[in-house]
Amino acid sequence: MTEPLLRLRNIRAGYGRTQIVNDISLDIQQGERLALIGRNGMGKTTLLATIMGLTQLHSGKMEWCSQSILDMPTHRRAALGLGLVPQTRDIFKSLSVEENIIAGLRGDATLEEAYALFPRLKERRKNGGGQLSGGEQQMLSIARTLMGRPKLLMLDEPLEGLAPTICDMLMGVFEGLAKAGATTIILVEQHADLAVGFADRVVILDTGMIAYQGTTASIKADHTILDRLVGVGLAEV
Ligand SMILES: Nc1ncnc2c1ncn2[C@@H]1O[C@H](COP(=O)(O)OP(=O)(O)O)[C@@H](O)[C@H]1O
Ligand SMILES: [Mg+2]
Repeated sequence: MTEPLLRLRNIRAGYGRTQIVNDISLDIQQGERLALIGRNGMGKTTLLATIMGLTQLHSGKMEWCSQSILDMPTHRRAALGLGLVPQTRDIFKSLSVEENIIAGLRGDATLEEAYALFPRLKERRKNGGGQLSGGEQQMLSIARTLMGRPKLLMLDEPLEGLAPTICDMLMGVFEGLAKAGATTIILVEQHADLAVGFADRVVILDTGMIAYQGTTASIKADHTILDRLVGVGLAEV
């Protein structure tokens, strides 16, 4: 197997001295689609935040393309190609849509590229971030992260609270990015069926630990895994 894009070894991290991520080891390969699922409060958001350098790291190793990133501040991790679309949909509410995207542009990325991905944002370009619907805010949050040209795109419950048509549209965008091949994706999703439908590999967290990891095929073959660890079946897969 080739060197992973991201390698976590025995990562323990949390908020101050409170440990939430509890001894996680995980390799993420270039081009992979990973679903990260688990019940509420199990540490999914904290794990993504830890990968971005936004929590207190207690111990472990973290490498990006074989280089340690443990001591790197978040902005340097972003410059290397780590991108997070946070569950809180961080956008600048007092800036316009256009200004929000411009603030996220890196390298040769352009506004027009963001608008091609999300035509709705072009229509709303002069509106303030705070005037957008939930779905539009999520599009803007995703566009901002994508304009930083992430090699690893981490999506933290991107569909939460959004209308089915918007969810379908966003899943189509993620599918397109994955198919284009340059973006490795970690999708955190409450809808286990959607996450499993999208991913090649599934990791289930339980109280900050990896309770299960396997291919999508293996989880589809044994529905009791999801019932036991996430509390939902796979009715629609
Ligand atoms: N800023 C914080 N300070 C202290 N504890 C937190 C903070 N954010 C989350 N937690 C706790 O960390 C645990 C994991 O939360 P989280 O990573 O948000 O889980 P998930 O994303 O799987 O729902 C929960 O017990 C939560 O209460
Ligand atoms: Mg969360």
